[in-house]
Amino acid sequence: MTEIYKIQSYSYEDRAQDLLNRMTIEEKVGQMCQVDGRKEPELWIKDKNVGSFLHIVGEEAIRLQKISSEETRLGIPLIFGIDAIHGHAFYNDATVFPSQLGLSSSWNTDLLQEVAHITAKEVILTGLHWTFSPVLCLGRDMRWGRVDETFGEDPYLAGVLGAAMVKGYQGEKLSDPYSILSCPKHFAAYGETQGGRDSTESDVSPRKLKTVFLPPFKAAVDAGCATIMAGYNSIDGLPCSANKWLLTDILKNQFNFKGFVVTDWNNTGNLYSLQKIAPSLKKSCEIVINAGNDMIMTTPEFYDNAVELVKKGIISEKLIDQACLRILLMKFKLGLFDEKRYPDCSNSNSIIGCDQHKNASYKSALESIVLLKNEENVLPITNKIKKIAVVGPNADDVVAQLGDWSFGPRDFPERSTLEYNKYDTTSIVTILEGIKKRAGSEFEVVYEKGCDVIDESINNIDAALKISSDCDIIIAVVGDTIVLNGETRDRASLDLLGRQEELLKELKNTGKPLIVVLINGKPLTIPWVKDNAHAIIEAWNPGMEGGNAVASILFGDYNPCGKLSISFPRHVGQQPVYYNQYPGWHGGKYADLTSEPLFHFGYGISYTSYEYSNLKLASYELDTDDELLLTIDVKNTGTVKGTEIVQVYINDIYSCVTTPIKELKGFARVELNGGETKNVQIKIPISSLALIDSNLNSFVEPGEFEVMVGGSSKDEDLIKAVFKVL
Ligand code: BGC
Repeated sequence: MTEIYKIQSYSYEDRAQDLLNRMTIEEKVGQMCQVDGRKEPELWIKDKNVGSFLHIVGEEAIRLQKISSEETRLGIPLIFGIDAIHGHAFYNDATVFPSQLGLSSSWNTDLLQEVAHITAKEVILTGLHWTFSPVLCLGRDMRWGRVDETFGEDPYLAGVLGAAMVKGYQGEKLSDPYSILSCPKHFAAYGETQGGRDSTESDVSPRKLKTVFLPPFKAAVDAGCATIMAGYNSIDGLPCSANKWLLTDILKNQFNFKGFVVTDWNNTGNLYSLQKIAPSLKKSCEIVINAGNDMIMTTPEFYDNAVELVKKGIISEKLIDQACLRILLMKFKLGLFDEKRYPDCSNSNSIIGCDQHKNASYKSALESIVLLKNEENVLPITNKIKKIAVVGPNADDVVAQLGDWSFGPRDFPERSTLEYNKYDTTSIVTILEGIKKRAGSEFEVVYEKGCDVIDESINNIDAALKISSDCDIIIAVVGDTIVLNGETRDRASLDLLGRQEELLKELKNTGKPLIVVLINGKPLTIPWVKDNAHAIIEAWNPGMEGGNAVASILFGDYNPCGKLSISFPRHVGQQPVYYNQYPGWHGGKYADLTSEPLFHFGYGISYTSYEYSNLKLASYELDTDDELLLTIDVKNTGTVKGTEIVQVYINDIYSCVTTPIKELKGFARVELNGGETKNVQIKIPISSLALIDSNLNSFVEPGEFEVMVGGSSKDEDLIKAVFKVL
């Protein structure tokens, strides 16, 4: 029989089907397994026809690919996956970008696409084909450890930015030399667990799920994402990997997702050992197959159990065929049976971490930074300043700066054999280094750490005060660090820990201008800093070029333009403070605290200011299939060139179910010279104003809608108009 699967002129679908027809049950189940590539990889390839490995890189990956291709019956290539979350940051020498939360403050889809494309290039040049990114969970409870991995709190923004990253990773087509598979995760509502506790129960109704948590994934599916990862969490009693409605009915059937679903790390085993909805591992395997998971991440027991379940007739072979076919199809589409089976790594040294990529990291850090306060234009630093004191625990700390999913030590011993400890940190520019470099001989810079991020027993505050005493300005770099962010690292308090606030208070007492630079994975409760610092720069985890970017902003070489993609609470108990709240709260505030966040979603200032006027709608009565076209004048009222992010929010004034007081539905980035005015046009499809009613029907309800346009989600910053949907 012609080996159609080997012939490039046939369609990917025909080749995949032909290959599937030749496979035994064992071979098919093997393709569904993804195991840790550091544990008996040859055995997994030769005896179990494994489909995918994760967490190995470079020569070892290429060696294993050779074995799979040349020493197995059908020569099916492997897919290698890795968490290249903000750059290929587990790999020595790779380009490390700001965290996803940082990148989201840029509101820049082109930038996100470029970041993802560069990451894809660096990933493929180390023999891998798949990154478990982007994260499309929403950051709505700041206690949750993984807020740094999100695009912030808003479903629309997460969807738009996620789609851009999917396109960047996957390129024009998957078979392109530098395209890799993306993996939006964690499907779904994983960030919404109670108390911010990672991986527990997300108590969300199907309506809330459809309204808030599924739309970013729908956007990623529409952008063509090749894979999706099912979350660890349970929804209404069902762990995501056990939820057939979620994975099959919604994702595969309603969203028409054609890629494959991968479980999260040992989701299958967890059904039995942690969540206890299966009395045995065998039962767990049966449940995940029936629910619609295609690839099983790191549950090695799946192989024997699944083979047995099929052979005993408990699981229909048809389900295995469907899962296997989805995986094979992606391998064909990626070109793994053809040109891309072995990557051409000959030029990897000159591409991985090259200057062009570093420059993209620098640019993305610039755009990720949000200026939160600048009293009396204390910034940028002018040449009236002669001596600068840099203090604080995060001024010269590579681990805090890069944040999670980089080489920094993690809690998982089983994942610690990567390049973590061998990582060469010389290419990382810390904040202190960036300031020193920019200051050159023009300014004198002195440094003292002052205290630790966490450990209260470390107290060098006096030394910090001493070096600050004859300085003209103090730059205090504080925040959080790696052990306060990430999986298993949920926080109960969001305050600055250790002696950081004490350090800031003592520095403030010197009477000198106090600039606070925040290096942190997530919003912190810092009302004292807001009231007392002269300027605040939110730099997040700004990546390897973070120091250069912060320095450029401090010295005014770059006018900051980032806007918050996430609201800052004043107090941990005030949560949630996301902007798209529901109406109806008696009193509208806590008895002991305002309902206002410390900093609003969409907020961010710059070295100039903008004025909005003249909001006009092309039509004030529209049909459900129309597009709302609005125009508004935006003026740069200062002298410095800047980029303003114009935001459009909509409120469905009366609706059959409660709907948020405002929802982001569009935005535009506008570059304006000092004094310049531009008439900005933004289009919003009326179909995007659909609500989900209590019977889970989705439709645009006729009636009046309010449109609000401005530079943040804060009411005072918005110009409003009303239109009618007929
Ligand atoms: C995380 C995923 C990650 C996977 C593989 C899991 O613990 O939840 O986000 O992709 O590990 O490393």
